[in-house]
Amino acid sequence: MASKVFVCEADLEDGGMRGVNVEGRWLLISRHRGEYSALDAACAHSGAPLFEGSLDPSGAVTCPLHYARFDCRTGEILSRPPICGDQTVFRIKVSNGKIFWLKDPAGEAEGFRAGIS
Ligand code: FES
Repeated sequence: MASKVFVCEADLEDGGMRGVNVEGRWLLISRHRGEYSALDAACAHSGAPLFEGSLDPSGAVTCPLHYARFDCRTGEILSRPPICGDQTVFRIKVSNGKIFWLKDPAGEAEGFRAGIS
């Protein structure tokens, strides 16, 4: 088992982000300056859904609850409330207009369309 498709490129404009549910887990997919990235969608501080926040032109995702800011590509915390760390980053691949979550980097892509927030 290698990966799952969770969003098509056409569903995500540059500067946008979406929450996608894959097998019960929410991921935040963002597109910044033409590049796609995926973070754990549950904020490292208190679990708020980051896809309900915002993505600014610098590539910073702001949490909607207490306004922690994370780099959408690296998950690095940029500004924070106390007791908040970096976001988990997921490896993804874009192929034939679809974005795959690479659960196993050595395997082949295999996909399905998951729920999109
Ligand atoms: S839940 Fe995100 S900053 Fe508190």
